[in-house]
This record gives sequence, C-alpha cells and structure tokens, in this order.
Amino acid sequence: MSANCACGSGHQVLLSAEVIAGRVGELAAAINTCYRDEELTVVALVNGAMIFAADLVRKLTMPVRLDTFALASYHGHASSGRLDFRSRPKLPLSGKHVLLVDDILDTGLTLSGVGDYLEMQEPLSVRICVLLKKEVSCRDIDIEVDWYGFKIPDVFVYGYGLDENEFFRNLPFIAQFEGS
Ligand code: IMP
Ligand code: MG
Repeated sequence: MSANCACGSGHQVLLSAEVIAGRVGELAAAINTCYRDEELTVVALVNGAMIFAADLVRKLTMPVRLDTFALASYHGHASSGRLDFRSRPKLPLSGKHVLLVDDILDTGLTLSGVGDYLEMQEPLSVRICVLLKKEVSCRDIDIEVDWYGFKIPDVFVYGYGLDENEFFRNLPFIAQFEGS
C-alpha cells in the first residue's frame, strides 16, 4: 500500500493508523488486567516512544505517573552499538511498579541498558511494552518483553514516533523504508 502525507512524498505503509489504534487498545487492555488498580509508573523512552506512549497511557485505567528516559543508540539507519543517556527519569522509582514503553526492540541494547539502570533504583517490578519487535535472526542481547504490538521483518521503519533521520515521526502510520 502507498500513501501520501502532508509532506507530499509517497510511503510504503506497513501498519495503518487504524491497525495500530486497534492493537494499542488490546495492549492497554492486557496491561490493565495485569496491574488492575495498582499504581503504575510509565517510563517512555523518547523520542521514539512518545506517540505510542501518549496513545497507550490514555487507555490505562489505574493511577498512572508518567516520566521519560531520553537516549539514543541509532545513527542514521543502523545501531551505533553505543548508548547515549541524555536524560533520566525525575520521579523516584524505588518501590514502584515500572512499565518501560519503547517504540521498537531491535538489537536489545537500549532496553537492556535501561533495564540495568532501572534495577539499580530498586523498583517493585519492571515490565516492558514495545510497539514493534523486529524479527532479527540472532539478537546480540537476549531480552524478553512482556507485551509487544507487532512482529515485523528486519527492515528499517519510520512513522508513529519512529524517525528517518529525525523526520517523519509525525506520520500517523508506520512505513517501511524503500529498499531496506
Ligand atoms: P536497539 O537498542 O538496537 O534495540 O534499538 C532501539 C532503538 O533504535 C529504538 O528505540 C529506535 O529508537 C531505534 N530503531 C531501531 N530500529 C529502528 C527502525 O527501523 N526505525 C527507526 N528507529 C529504529
Ligand atoms: Mg528509541
């Protein structure tokens, strides 16, 4: 499928806005069932997860605190293999249920680095929800997520928060980079 956006260029749509919205609702329902009325601290990894997290938290029914973790591991279309911590959560996490929300699990470097940092804060629990899980034949770092939205092939994607050289985070759908 191909779509034109306000930016005027064509995109190869992998997941439409409607399909994403339906799945975000299902993920929220599963998370609501897991935590019931327990207080939850959602930590969104920005910038990539900001759109997904914004949609997800508005469907959660327990008392939610929201914070962010800003980091970067990607340069252009590939992982740099290095994690830059740009800002850490401001809320105290000790003794709290923490839900890490990210856009995509690729090499696992980001989530394992963040997981290690969070464990040092002594939270009551840490669970992970990602929108996309790339089907990578052998992931360098063994990491399990508790919830994911979609499994996708090992291609470069953008839109709905994910960037293509910092552009296109604003697209309401997820597109596959041509030729990836
Ligand atoms: P990881 O650390 O290799 O698992 O990669 C995680 C981060 O890299 C994600 O949070 C994204 O910000 C970025 N990333 C990985 N794959 C893609 C992609 O296909 N498009 C855009 N960003 C990506
Ligand atoms: Mg990211």
